[in-house]
Amino acid sequence: KRFWHTVHYDLTAKAYIFTFDDQNIEVNADLLRPTIYAREGDRVIINVIEINPSITCYSSWHGLKQYANGWADGPAYITQCPIQTGSNFVYDFNVTGQRGTLWWHAHILWLRATVYGAIVILPQQGTPYPFPKPDNEHQGNAMGLPPNMSDAHTINGKPGPLFPCSEKHTFAMEVDQGKRYLLRIANAALNDELFFAIAGHNMTVVEIDAVYTKPFTTSAILIAPGQTTNVLVYANSAPGRYFMAVRPFQDVPIPVDNKTATAIFQYKGIPDTVLPSLPQLPSPNDTTFALSYNNKLRSLNTPNFPANVPLNVDRKLLFTVGLGKSVCPTCINGTRLSASLNNITFVMPQTGLLEAHYKNMKGVFTPDFPDKPPKAFNYTGAPLTANLFTTHGTRLSKIAFNSTVELVIQDTNLLSVESHPFHLHGYNFFVVGTGIGNFDPAKDPAKYNLVDPPERNTVGVPTGGWSAIRFRADNPGVWFFHCHLELHTGWGLKTAFVVENGPGKDQAVRPPPKDLPPC
Ligand code: C2O
Repeated sequence: KRFWHTVHYDLTAKAYIFTFDDQNIEVNADLLRPTIYAREGDRVIINVIEINPSITCYSSWHGLKQYANGWADGPAYITQCPIQTGSNFVYDFNVTGQRGTLWWHAHILWLRATVYGAIVILPQQGTPYPFPKPDNEHQGNAMGLPPNMSDAHTINGKPGPLFPCSEKHTFAMEVDQGKRYLLRIANAALNDELFFAIAGHNMTVVEIDAVYTKPFTTSAILIAPGQTTNVLVYANSAPGRYFMAVRPFQDVPIPVDNKTATAIFQYKGIPDTVLPSLPQLPSPNDTTFALSYNNKLRSLNTPNFPANVPLNVDRKLLFTVGLGKSVCPTCINGTRLSASLNNITFVMPQTGLLEAHYKNMKGVFTPDFPDKPPKAFNYTGAPLTANLFTTHGTRLSKIAFNSTVELVIQDTNLLSVESHPFHLHGYNFFVVGTGIGNFDPAKDPAKYNLVDPPERNTVGVPTGGWSAIRFRADNPGVWFFHCHLELHTGWGLKTAFVVENGPGKDQAVRPPPKDLPPC
Protein backbone atom coordinates (compact mmCIF):
# COMPACT_ATOMS: atom_id res chain seq x y z
CA LYS A 1 0.00 0.00 0.00
CA ARG A 2 1.21 3.43 -0.87
CA PHE A 3 0.87 6.34 1.44
CA TRP A 4 0.93 9.73 -0.19
CA HIS A 5 1.63 12.76 1.83
CA THR A 6 2.02 16.22 0.54
CA VAL A 7 3.37 18.44 3.22
CA HIS A 8 3.28 22.17 2.66
CA TYR A 9 5.32 24.21 5.02
CA ASP A 10 4.58 27.80 5.56
CA LEU A 11 6.95 28.50 8.34
CA THR A 12 5.84 32.06 8.88
CA ALA A 13 2.20 31.23 9.47
CA LYS A 14 3.10 27.83 10.83
CA ALA A 15 0.25 26.29 8.87
CA TYR A 16 0.41 22.78 7.55
CA ILE A 17 -1.62 21.32 4.78
CA PHE A 18 -1.19 17.74 3.87
CA THR A 19 -2.93 15.10 1.89
CA PHE A 20 -3.32 11.61 3.18
CA ASP A 21 -4.45 8.84 0.88
CA ASP A 22 -5.49 11.49 -1.60
CA GLN A 23 -7.77 13.20 0.84
CA ASN A 24 -6.98 16.76 1.67
CA ILE A 25 -6.88 17.44 5.33
CA GLU A 26 -6.11 20.91 6.39
CA VAL A 27 -4.36 21.22 9.66
CA ASN A 28 -4.22 24.82 10.56
CA ALA A 29 -2.93 24.98 14.06
CA ASP A 30 0.54 26.12 14.78
CA LEU A 31 1.37 23.24 17.07
CA LEU A 32 -0.33 20.29 15.42
CA ARG A 33 2.04 18.40 13.21
CA PRO A 34 1.11 15.76 10.67
CA THR A 35 1.88 12.22 11.68
CA ILE A 36 3.14 9.94 8.96
CA TYR A 37 1.68 6.45 9.12
CA ALA A 38 3.18 3.50 7.31
CA ARG A 39 3.42 -0.25 7.65
CA GLU A 40 6.65 -2.17 7.69
CA GLY A 41 7.45 -2.90 4.05
CA ASP A 42 5.63 0.15 2.69
CA ARG A 43 6.99 2.53 0.16
CA VAL A 44 6.49 6.07 1.43
CA ILE A 45 6.42 9.06 -0.89
CA ILE A 46 6.43 12.49 0.66
CA ASN A 47 6.40 15.60 -1.43
CA VAL A 48 7.88 18.50 0.48
CA ILE A 49 6.94 21.80 -1.09
CA GLU A 50 8.78 24.91 -0.08
CA ILE A 51 6.37 27.81 -0.13
CA ASN A 52 7.98 30.06 2.42
CA PRO A 53 9.73 32.96 0.74
CA SER A 54 12.57 33.33 3.19
CA ILE A 55 13.44 29.95 4.61
CA THR A 56 14.69 26.96 2.74
CA CYS A 57 13.58 23.72 4.22
CA TYR A 58 14.63 20.11 4.49
CA SER A 59 13.07 17.28 6.28
CA SER A 60 14.76 14.37 7.84
CA TRP A 61 13.12 11.08 8.70
CA HIS A 62 14.89 10.50 11.96
CA GLY A 63 15.89 6.87 12.42
CA LEU A 64 14.74 5.48 9.08
CA LYS A 65 17.61 3.50 7.62
CA GLN A 66 17.22 4.55 3.95
CA TYR A 67 19.21 1.60 2.65
CA ALA A 68 21.59 2.73 -0.15
CA ASN A 69 19.21 5.65 -0.49
CA GLY A 70 20.73 8.48 1.51
CA TRP A 71 19.13 10.88 -0.98
CA ALA A 72 15.94 10.52 1.02
CA ASP A 73 17.64 11.04 4.39
CA GLY A 74 17.42 14.81 4.45
CA PRO A 75 20.04 16.59 6.60
CA ALA A 76 21.08 19.87 5.04
CA TYR A 77 24.37 19.83 3.15
CA ILE A 78 24.95 16.21 4.11
CA THR A 79 22.60 14.45 1.71
CA GLN A 80 21.02 17.35 -0.18
CA CYS A 81 20.94 21.08 -0.74
CA PRO A 82 18.05 23.43 0.00
CA ILE A 83 14.65 23.07 -1.58
CA GLN A 84 14.31 26.53 -3.05
CA THR A 85 11.19 28.62 -2.56
CA GLY A 86 8.56 27.57 -5.06
CA SER A 87 10.04 24.18 -5.72
CA ASN A 88 9.68 20.77 -4.19
CA PHE A 89 11.53 17.54 -3.55
CA VAL A 90 10.00 14.10 -3.38
CA TYR A 91 11.33 11.87 -0.61
CA ASP A 92 10.75 8.34 -1.86
CA PHE A 93 11.76 5.49 0.41
CA ASN A 94 10.93 2.03 1.67
CA VAL A 95 10.38 1.17 5.29
CA THR A 96 12.14 -2.15 5.71
CA GLY A 97 12.91 -4.10 8.85
CA GLN A 98 11.68 -1.41 11.23
CA ARG A 99 8.46 -1.03 13.15
CA GLY A 100 7.53 1.31 15.97
CA THR A 101 7.73 5.03 16.51
CA LEU A 102 10.16 7.41 14.87
CA TRP A 103 9.78 11.05 14.01
CA TRP A 104 10.61 13.59 11.36
CA HIS A 105 11.97 17.09 11.65
CA ALA A 106 13.50 19.93 9.70
CA HIS A 107 17.24 19.43 9.60
CA ILE A 108 18.93 22.78 9.35
CA LEU A 109 19.86 25.29 12.01
CA TRP A 110 17.22 25.37 14.75
CA LEU A 111 14.24 24.88 12.48
CA ARG A 112 13.29 21.60 14.05
CA ALA A 113 11.95 23.65 16.95
CA THR A 114 8.75 24.14 15.00
CA VAL A 115 8.85 21.77 12.08
CA TYR A 116 8.48 18.18 13.27
CA GLY A 117 6.03 15.32 13.65
CA ALA A 118 5.73 11.64 14.46
CA ILE A 119 6.30 8.65 12.19
CA VAL A 120 4.29 5.58 13.13
CA ILE A 121 5.38 2.34 11.51
CA LEU A 122 2.85 -0.38 12.16
CA PRO A 123 3.84 -4.03 11.88
CA GLN A 124 2.87 -5.81 8.68
CA GLN A 125 -0.84 -6.58 8.33
CA GLY A 126 -1.64 -9.63 10.45
CA THR A 127 1.59 -9.49 12.47
CA PRO A 128 0.88 -8.92 16.16
CA TYR A 129 3.00 -6.91 18.54
CA PRO A 130 5.24 -9.05 20.76
CA PHE A 131 3.47 -7.59 23.82
CA PRO A 132 -0.15 -7.45 25.01
CA LYS A 133 -2.35 -5.81 22.42
CA PRO A 134 -3.19 -2.24 23.36
CA ASP A 135 -6.81 -1.14 23.21
CA ASN A 136 -5.72 2.22 21.98
CA GLU A 137 -2.60 4.01 20.81
CA HIS A 138 -1.50 7.52 21.51
CA GLN A 139 1.20 9.74 20.16
CA GLY A 140 2.90 12.38 22.14
CA ASN A 141 5.91 14.50 21.90
CA ALA A 142 7.77 16.49 24.40
CA MET A 143 9.34 19.63 23.25
CA GLY A 144 11.40 22.30 24.81
CA LEU A 145 13.60 25.24 24.22
CA PRO A 146 17.04 25.71 25.70
CA PRO A 147 17.43 27.08 29.22
CA ASN A 148 18.57 30.53 28.26
CA MET A 149 15.82 31.18 25.79
CA SER A 150 12.70 29.86 27.43
CA ASP A 151 11.58 27.93 30.43
CA ALA A 152 8.91 26.08 28.53
CA HIS A 153 8.43 22.48 27.68
CA THR A 154 5.30 21.17 26.06
CA ILE A 155 3.45 17.93 25.66
CA ASN A 156 1.82 17.74 22.25
CA GLY A 157 2.49 21.41 21.84
CA LYS A 158 0.96 22.43 25.17
CA PRO A 159 2.70 23.41 28.41
CA GLY A 160 -0.06 22.42 30.85
CA PRO A 161 -1.73 24.36 33.64
CA LEU A 162 1.10 24.71 36.17
CA PHE A 163 1.84 28.25 35.05
CA PRO A 164 -0.47 31.25 35.44
CA CYS A 165 -1.02 31.90 31.76
CA SER A 166 -1.15 28.36 30.53
CA GLU A 167 -4.30 26.81 32.04
CA LYS A 168 -6.05 26.70 28.73
CA HIS A 169 -3.14 25.08 26.99
CA THR A 170 -3.30 21.59 28.31
CA PHE A 171 -3.24 18.36 26.37
CA ALA A 172 -5.61 15.77 27.81
CA MET A 173 -5.81 12.12 26.93
CA GLU A 174 -9.12 10.52 27.76
CA VAL A 175 -9.03 6.90 28.86
CA ASP A 176 -11.52 4.14 29.64
CA GLN A 177 -11.17 2.35 32.94
CA GLY A 178 -9.75 -1.13 32.43
CA LYS A 179 -8.23 -0.48 29.01
CA ARG A 180 -4.62 -0.74 27.97
CA TYR A 181 -3.01 2.10 26.03
CA LEU A 182 0.12 2.31 23.91
CA LEU A 183 1.79 5.71 24.24
CA ARG A 184 4.21 6.67 21.50
CA ILE A 185 6.61 9.23 22.92
CA ALA A 186 9.21 11.24 21.02
CA ASN A 187 11.59 13.72 22.60
CA ALA A 188 11.52 16.59 20.13
CA ALA A 189 13.09 19.00 22.63
CA LEU A 190 15.99 21.03 21.34
CA ASN A 191 18.34 20.71 24.27
CA ASP A 192 16.93 18.75 27.16
CA GLU A 193 16.96 15.12 28.11
CA LEU A 194 13.67 14.50 29.89
CA PHE A 195 12.02 12.39 32.56
CA PHE A 196 8.38 11.48 31.92
CA ALA A 197 5.90 9.96 34.36
CA ILE A 198 2.17 9.54 34.88
CA ALA A 199 0.74 9.98 38.38
CA GLY A 200 -0.81 6.82 39.79
CA HIS A 201 0.29 4.62 36.88
CA ASN A 202 3.32 2.59 35.96
CA MET A 203 4.48 2.23 32.39
CA THR A 204 5.76 -0.87 30.62
CA VAL A 205 8.49 -0.02 28.12
CA VAL A 206 8.09 -2.16 24.99
CA GLU A 207 9.99 -0.38 22.25
CA ILE A 208 12.69 2.25 21.80
CA ASP A 209 13.76 3.90 18.53
CA ALA A 210 11.53 1.51 16.53
CA VAL A 211 13.07 -1.63 18.04
CA TYR A 212 11.19 -3.92 20.42
CA THR A 213 12.63 -4.29 23.90
CA LYS A 214 12.25 -6.83 26.68
CA PRO A 215 9.24 -5.32 28.46
CA PHE A 216 9.90 -3.84 31.89
CA THR A 217 7.79 -1.79 34.22
CA THR A 218 8.88 1.58 35.53
CA SER A 219 7.43 4.60 37.28
CA ALA A 220 9.28 7.02 34.96
CA ILE A 221 11.12 6.95 31.66
CA LEU A 222 14.19 8.90 30.57
CA ILE A 223 14.32 10.06 26.98
CA ALA A 224 16.96 12.10 25.18
CA PRO A 225 16.36 14.46 22.25
CA GLY A 226 16.02 12.31 19.15
CA GLN A 227 14.94 9.20 21.00
CA THR A 228 11.51 7.58 20.94
CA THR A 229 9.90 5.24 23.47
CA ASN A 230 6.69 3.22 23.36
CA VAL A 231 5.07 2.33 26.65
CA LEU A 232 1.97 0.39 27.63
CA VAL A 233 -0.21 1.93 30.32
CA TYR A 234 -3.15 0.23 32.00
CA ALA A 235 -5.93 2.54 33.00
CA ASN A 236 -6.54 0.52 36.13
CA SER A 237 -6.28 3.11 38.88
CA ALA A 238 -9.16 4.79 40.66
CA PRO A 239 -11.04 6.80 38.01
CA GLY A 240 -9.82 10.37 38.19
CA ARG A 241 -7.59 12.95 36.60
CA TYR A 242 -3.84 12.35 36.74
CA PHE A 243 -1.02 14.53 35.56
CA MET A 244 1.50 13.27 33.04
CA ALA A 245 4.64 15.35 33.40
CA VAL A 246 8.04 15.94 31.81
CA ARG A 247 11.01 17.77 33.19
CA PRO A 248 14.70 17.86 32.30
CA PHE A 249 17.39 15.56 33.58
CA GLN A 250 20.43 17.71 34.24
CA ASP A 251 23.42 16.54 36.11
CA VAL A 252 24.12 19.74 37.97
CA PRO A 253 24.53 20.12 41.75
CA ILE A 254 21.67 22.57 42.20
CA PRO A 255 19.06 21.99 39.53
CA VAL A 256 16.31 24.52 39.06
CA ASP A 257 12.97 22.98 38.33
CA ASN A 258 10.96 25.63 36.60
CA LYS A 259 10.30 23.71 33.45
CA THR A 260 7.87 20.94 34.30
CA ALA A 261 5.27 20.58 31.57
CA THR A 262 2.09 18.67 32.24
CA ALA A 263 -0.75 17.00 30.39
CA ILE A 264 -3.71 15.09 31.77
CA PHE A 265 -4.45 11.40 31.82
CA GLN A 266 -8.18 11.63 32.28
CA TYR A 267 -10.67 8.85 32.96
CA LYS A 268 -13.92 9.20 31.04
CA GLY A 269 -16.75 10.73 32.98
CA ILE A 270 -14.60 12.58 35.52
CA PRO A 271 -15.42 16.28 35.56
CA ASP A 272 -12.70 18.76 34.61
CA THR A 273 -13.03 20.41 37.98
CA VAL A 274 -11.36 17.50 39.80
CA LEU A 275 -7.82 18.56 40.65
CA PRO A 276 -5.17 16.26 39.19
CA SER A 277 -2.21 15.04 41.22
CA LEU A 278 1.39 15.33 40.09
CA PRO A 279 3.52 12.24 39.46
CA GLN A 280 6.72 11.52 41.36
CA LEU A 281 9.43 12.39 38.86
CA PRO A 282 13.05 11.54 39.59
CA SER A 283 14.84 14.63 40.84
CA PRO A 284 16.44 16.59 37.99
CA ASN A 285 19.95 15.38 38.82
CA ASP A 286 19.08 11.78 39.64
CA THR A 287 21.98 10.12 37.84
CA THR A 288 21.40 6.86 39.69
CA PHE A 289 17.90 6.59 38.24
CA ALA A 290 19.24 7.49 34.79
CA LEU A 291 21.94 4.82 34.83
CA SER A 292 19.69 2.14 36.21
CA TYR A 293 16.91 3.00 33.74
CA ASN A 294 19.27 2.79 30.77
CA ASN A 295 20.61 -0.47 32.09
CA LYS A 296 17.12 -2.00 31.98
CA LEU A 297 16.81 -1.37 28.26
CA ARG A 298 17.46 -4.67 26.48
CA SER A 299 16.78 -5.88 22.97
CA LEU A 300 14.01 -8.44 22.73
CA ASN A 301 16.45 -10.90 21.13
CA THR A 302 13.99 -13.63 20.16
CA PRO A 303 14.14 -15.80 17.00
CA ASN A 304 11.76 -13.36 15.28
CA PHE A 305 13.61 -10.31 16.49
CA PRO A 306 17.22 -11.35 16.97
CA ALA A 307 19.88 -8.96 18.22
CA ASN A 308 22.68 -9.46 15.69
CA VAL A 309 25.40 -7.83 17.76
CA PRO A 310 28.75 -7.82 15.93
CA LEU A 311 31.02 -10.03 18.05
CA ASN A 312 34.25 -9.25 16.24
CA VAL A 313 35.31 -5.72 15.49
CA ASP A 314 37.12 -4.72 12.29
CA ARG A 315 37.48 -1.06 13.10
CA LYS A 316 37.85 0.56 16.50
CA LEU A 317 37.16 4.23 16.92
CA LEU A 318 37.41 6.54 19.92
CA PHE A 319 35.81 9.98 19.64
CA THR A 320 36.20 12.51 22.45
CA VAL A 321 33.62 15.22 23.00
CA GLY A 322 35.28 18.54 23.64
CA LEU A 323 34.69 22.21 24.03
CA GLY A 324 37.33 24.66 22.92
CA LYS A 325 37.56 27.92 21.11
CA SER A 326 38.05 29.20 17.60
CA VAL A 327 39.39 32.38 16.14
CA CYS A 328 36.58 34.80 15.37
CA PRO A 329 37.69 38.27 14.27
CA THR A 330 34.18 39.72 14.66
CA CYS A 331 33.64 38.35 18.19
CA ILE A 332 34.40 39.99 21.52
CA ASN A 333 37.92 38.84 22.52
CA GLY A 334 38.44 37.58 18.96
CA THR A 335 37.39 34.03 19.82
CA ARG A 336 34.21 32.02 20.11
CA LEU A 337 33.24 28.68 21.66
CA SER A 338 33.57 25.62 19.50
CA ALA A 339 32.57 22.06 20.24
CA SER A 340 34.60 19.24 18.80
CA LEU A 341 35.01 15.52 18.25
CA ASN A 342 38.64 14.49 18.55
CA ASN A 343 39.35 18.22 18.76
CA ILE A 344 37.89 18.80 15.27
CA THR A 345 35.10 21.31 14.84
CA PHE A 346 33.04 20.25 11.86
CA VAL A 347 32.78 22.78 9.06
CA MET A 348 29.54 22.60 7.09
CA PRO A 349 30.19 22.20 3.36
CA GLN A 350 28.43 24.15 0.61
CA THR A 351 27.70 21.03 -1.43
CA GLY A 352 25.83 17.93 -0.29
CA LEU A 353 28.41 15.44 0.95
CA LEU A 354 26.56 12.47 -0.50
CA GLU A 355 26.57 14.06 -3.94
CA ALA A 356 30.27 14.91 -3.60
CA HIS A 357 30.99 11.31 -2.65
CA TYR A 358 28.79 9.85 -5.41
CA LYS A 359 30.31 12.05 -8.10
CA ASN A 360 33.80 11.84 -6.71
CA MET A 361 34.04 15.63 -6.45
CA LYS A 362 37.27 16.93 -4.98
CA GLY A 363 37.62 19.66 -2.42
CA VAL A 364 34.31 19.18 -0.59
CA PHE A 365 35.48 16.92 2.24
CA THR A 366 38.48 14.87 3.27
CA PRO A 367 37.99 11.21 4.28
CA ASP A 368 40.58 11.45 7.03
CA PHE A 369 38.75 11.85 10.32
CA PRO A 370 41.15 10.42 12.92
CA ASP A 371 40.23 7.12 14.59
CA LYS A 372 41.53 8.46 17.91
CA PRO A 373 41.89 11.82 19.64
CA PRO A 374 45.19 13.64 19.10
CA LYS A 375 46.53 12.58 22.47
CA ALA A 376 45.34 10.48 25.33
CA PHE A 377 44.82 12.26 28.61
CA ASN A 378 42.62 12.00 31.63
CA TYR A 379 39.45 13.19 29.91
CA THR A 380 37.19 13.34 32.90
CA GLY A 381 39.58 13.85 35.79
CA ALA A 382 42.02 16.58 34.85
CA PRO A 383 40.80 20.14 35.17
CA LEU A 384 40.48 20.67 31.44
CA THR A 385 39.89 24.23 30.51
CA ALA A 386 38.12 25.56 27.51
CA ASN A 387 41.24 27.35 26.42
CA LEU A 388 42.21 24.90 23.73
CA PHE A 389 41.87 25.93 20.15
CA THR A 390 40.10 23.33 18.06
CA THR A 391 41.07 22.47 14.52
CA HIS A 392 38.50 22.87 11.77
CA GLY A 393 37.58 20.76 8.79
CA THR A 394 34.97 18.82 6.87
CA ARG A 395 36.64 15.58 7.80
CA LEU A 396 34.82 12.25 7.53
CA SER A 397 35.59 8.68 8.62
CA LYS A 398 35.82 6.31 5.70
CA ILE A 399 34.44 2.87 6.51
CA ALA A 400 34.79 -0.31 4.41
CA PHE A 401 31.49 -1.86 3.33
CA ASN A 402 30.18 -4.51 5.71
CA SER A 403 32.96 -4.02 8.23
CA THR A 404 32.04 -4.10 11.88
CA VAL A 405 32.66 -0.90 13.76
CA GLU A 406 33.02 -0.18 17.46
CA LEU A 407 32.84 3.44 18.39
CA VAL A 408 33.51 4.61 21.93
CA ILE A 409 32.22 8.11 22.55
CA GLN A 410 34.10 9.60 25.47
CA ASP A 411 32.66 12.56 27.27
CA THR A 412 35.14 14.91 28.93
CA ASN A 413 34.72 17.16 31.90
CA LEU A 414 33.79 19.95 29.52
CA LEU A 415 30.35 20.49 28.07
CA SER A 416 29.06 18.06 30.56
CA VAL A 417 26.09 19.00 32.65
CA GLU A 418 23.97 16.62 30.64
CA SER A 419 24.48 13.56 28.57
CA HIS A 420 25.10 14.02 24.87
CA PRO A 421 22.52 12.27 22.74
CA PHE A 422 24.60 11.11 19.78
CA HIS A 423 22.60 10.18 16.72
CA LEU A 424 23.80 8.20 13.73
CA HIS A 425 21.86 8.46 10.47
CA GLY A 426 21.34 5.40 8.24
CA TYR A 427 21.81 2.85 11.01
CA ASN A 428 20.73 1.40 14.26
CA PHE A 429 23.58 0.45 16.56
CA PHE A 430 23.91 -1.64 19.69
CA VAL A 431 24.84 0.14 22.89
CA VAL A 432 27.17 -2.58 24.21
CA GLY A 433 28.57 -0.69 27.15
CA THR A 434 28.49 2.53 29.04
CA GLY A 435 30.31 3.81 32.10
CA ILE A 436 31.37 6.74 34.20
CA GLY A 437 34.90 8.16 34.01
CA ASN A 438 37.47 7.33 31.35
CA PHE A 439 36.95 4.39 29.04
CA ASP A 440 39.54 1.74 29.83
CA PRO A 441 40.30 -0.35 26.71
CA ALA A 442 41.98 -3.00 28.86
CA LYS A 443 39.11 -3.57 31.29
CA ASP A 444 35.80 -2.18 30.05
CA PRO A 445 35.21 -4.40 26.98
CA ALA A 446 35.06 -7.43 29.28
CA LYS A 447 31.89 -5.93 30.77
CA TYR A 448 30.09 -5.40 27.45
CA ASN A 449 26.65 -6.83 26.92
CA LEU A 450 26.98 -8.68 23.60
CA VAL A 451 23.81 -10.71 24.07
CA ASP A 452 20.83 -8.36 24.30
CA PRO A 453 22.11 -4.77 24.34
CA PRO A 454 19.62 -2.06 23.39
CA GLU A 455 19.50 -1.34 19.68
CA ARG A 456 18.81 2.27 18.81
CA ASN A 457 19.72 5.26 16.67
CA THR A 458 20.50 7.77 19.44
CA VAL A 459 22.53 7.12 22.59
CA GLY A 460 22.80 9.37 25.62
CA VAL A 461 26.51 9.43 26.47
CA PRO A 462 26.60 10.09 30.22
CA THR A 463 28.10 13.16 31.78
CA GLY A 464 31.75 12.50 32.51
CA GLY A 465 31.48 9.02 31.07
CA TRP A 466 31.43 7.01 27.87
CA SER A 467 29.27 4.78 25.71
CA ALA A 468 30.42 2.07 23.33
CA ILE A 469 28.32 1.30 20.27
CA ARG A 470 28.69 -1.36 17.59
CA PHE A 471 27.24 -1.66 14.12
CA ARG A 472 27.86 -3.43 10.85
CA ALA A 473 28.55 -0.92 8.08
CA ASP A 474 26.20 -2.49 5.55
CA ASN A 475 24.47 0.68 4.37
CA PRO A 476 26.57 2.49 1.74
CA GLY A 477 26.47 6.28 1.63
CA VAL A 478 27.30 9.32 3.70
CA TRP A 479 25.73 9.28 7.13
CA PHE A 480 25.63 12.17 9.52
CA PHE A 481 26.72 11.59 13.13
CA HIS A 482 25.92 14.38 15.54
CA CYS A 483 24.93 15.44 19.01
CA HIS A 484 21.15 15.91 19.01
CA LEU A 485 21.37 18.89 21.36
CA GLU A 486 20.80 21.72 18.91
CA LEU A 487 23.17 24.02 20.73
CA HIS A 488 26.05 21.57 20.44
CA THR A 489 25.32 20.64 16.82
CA GLY A 490 25.53 24.31 15.99
CA TRP A 491 28.89 24.56 17.74
CA GLY A 492 30.29 21.84 15.48
CA LEU A 493 29.74 18.64 17.48
CA LYS A 494 29.30 16.45 14.42
CA THR A 495 30.99 14.53 11.63
CA ALA A 496 29.88 11.96 9.07
CA PHE A 497 30.78 8.45 8.00
CA VAL A 498 31.42 7.58 4.36
CA VAL A 499 30.51 3.93 3.99
CA GLU A 500 31.92 2.57 0.75
CA ASN A 501 29.88 0.64 -1.78
CA GLY A 502 29.75 -3.13 -1.56
CA PRO A 503 30.42 -5.47 -4.48
CA GLY A 504 26.77 -6.33 -5.23
CA LYS A 505 24.74 -4.10 -7.48
CA ASP A 506 22.19 -3.43 -4.78
CA GLN A 507 25.03 -2.70 -2.35
CA ALA A 508 25.96 0.58 -4.01
CA VAL A 509 24.47 4.03 -3.47
CA ARG A 510 21.58 4.40 -5.91
CA PRO A 511 21.68 7.10 -8.57
CA PRO A 512 20.35 10.40 -7.25
CA PRO A 513 16.70 11.28 -7.87
CA LYS A 514 16.15 13.64 -10.82
CA ASP A 515 14.64 16.35 -8.65
CA LEU A 516 17.48 16.42 -6.11
CA PRO A 517 17.75 20.11 -5.27
CA PRO A 518 20.84 21.62 -6.89
CA CYS A 519 23.38 23.45 -4.80
CU1 C2O B 1 16.99 13.80 14.37
CU2 C2O B 1 20.33 14.32 12.21
O1 C2O B 1 18.64 14.10 13.31
